[in-house]
Amino acid sequence: MTGVHPEPTCVFRAATLGDVAGLTELIASSARELCNGDYHPAQIEAALQGAWGVDTQLIRDGTYFVGQRGGHLAICGGWSRFTTEFGGDAFAGRRTGTLQPGVDPAKIRAFFVHPDHARFGLASQLLTLCEAQALAAGFTHAELVATIAGARFYASRGYRMLERRPYALPGGLSIDFITMRRALAAPAQGA
Ligand SMILES: CC(C)(COP(=O)(O)OP(=O)(O)OC[C@H]1O[C@@H](n2cnc3c(N)ncnc32)[C@H](O)[C@@H]1OP(=O)(O)O)[C@@H](O)C(=O)NCCC(=O)NCCS
Repeated sequence: MTGVHPEPTCVFRAATLGDVAGLTELIASSARELCNGDYHPAQIEAALQGAWGVDTQLIRDGTYFVGQRGGHLAICGGWSRFTTEFGGDAFAGRRTGTLQPGVDPAKIRAFFVHPDHARFGLASQLLTLCEAQALAAGFTHAELVATIAGARFYASRGYRMLERRPYALPGGLSIDFITMRRALAAPAQGA
């Protein structure tokens, strides 16, 4: 048959420190285009100064991933066993603690899809991978701090909203993020 081109599949792998420049570009394109209807451009630029960015602690821990589709960097995202809720290396609000499996929820962190690859199910695929790894590491719940666009996606994946609140950004601006959580495993019978 002619004229039929199947959609390219996405190949996921652990991110490396060599990916940081490409990831920084991907995060900026994703935020500028896909968060455009939810936030003012000035909020987006201020968030890109730190609140949204690459957290190399996750890359070093092997829990941050990239997905390549049709030869392009199409998505990044990961999970974390550290207490930092969001933000790249440049973010001032970082914390240093470690989460305890079975007690604390694992964090889902920094999912960004390139606009050319949005709504092809890539974030869903990567979230499934991250949740499975967090569960295998002993975490029974996952929690995240979502953008407004992110909240629509995570709600479709079973996360419930806990709180919406403003976070401070450089230049005296602020931005609303939404804390969300879901169980990764059904509780044992009788528990
Ligand atoms: C949020 C984001 C990661 C979703 O990525 P994606 O690969 O397009 O998501 P999926 O294709 O897996 O979407 C799965 C489902 O989530 C929901 N969803 C995803 N994006 C949505 C949107 N913009 N509006 C409404 N629902 C949305 C839909 O139910 C969708 O299923 P459908 O396409 O069959 O209707 C992407 O839009 C993005 O990178 N946004 C900008 C950066 C950002 O805000 N990241 C989140 C940080 S917390």
